[in-house]
Amino acid sequence: MARTYLIAGNWKMHTTPAEARTLAAAIAEKHSSLKPPSSVQTLICPPYLSIYAALEAVKGSGVHIGAQDCHFETKGAFTGEIAPNMVKASGCSHVILGHSERRQYFGETNALLNKKVRAALSEGLIPIYCVGETLAERQEERTLAVVRTQLVDGLKDISLQSASQLVIAYEPVWAIGTGLAATAEQAQEVHAAIRGFLTEILGAVGAEMLILYGGSLKPDNADEILSKPDVNGGLIGGAALQADSFAAIIAAACKLAAS
Ligand code: 13P
Repeated sequence: MARTYLIAGNWKMHTTPAEARTLAAAIAEKHSSLKPPSSVQTLICPPYLSIYAALEAVKGSGVHIGAQDCHFETKGAFTGEIAPNMVKASGCSHVILGHSERRQYFGETNALLNKKVRAALSEGLIPIYCVGETLAERQEERTLAVVRTQLVDGLKDISLQSASQLVIAYEPVWAIGTGLAATAEQAQEVHAAIRGFLTEILGAVGAEMLILYGGSLKPDNADEILSKPDVNGGLIGGAALQADSFAAIIAAACKLAAS
């Protein structure tokens, strides 16, 4: 059976609308020339204000657009926030929730993220729920315990009809933006554990869910990491900001999907 991959770019706080239009158009062009099978999906997540420009630029290419966060209410006096229904109505298919930068710099907790995941699901958005340990937690051999708590608390009271409604990203905090990626073996070990936790929390659909690896995923290590059985794609920061390097990762997924 062909393997399924989701290759997702998290642009973080990069790109004005004009820059997003140029980068998204370049990615769409490279994506189209790779002719990916339907089992390889490409997603880019620009800053909110660049979503519209990116959507226009990828129109007809099959590249999907997502947001990097959302609030859990549908409207109200929450200055500066964006509601999940607004994200959906803007043409996004996915929303990243619980990125470690949101947890670290903006104090987002598993309890808050549970509200966000539930709100996004109820709007028909596909949350990409991020989990991962810090360096200190890894050194204390608490990686699996930390990730399990993030999953148990963040996915509390959720029931899914299908595995495609939710995506998990494993992003070891020590590998994000540092150039220091997890080894393929380290990634596989945690991904396999995550699959077990998801089955425990969500039942049979949990076993089928896409689990992305994030943290210095680059063209150089994409082949090896994406070839691991429980790795179903990547959530990519730095390498997603250049069309060439992002396309090289999509190409690696296409090759593996066909093998
Ligand atoms: P880098 O690929 O820049 O390490 O970022 C990973 C990440 O945080 C994606 O969400």
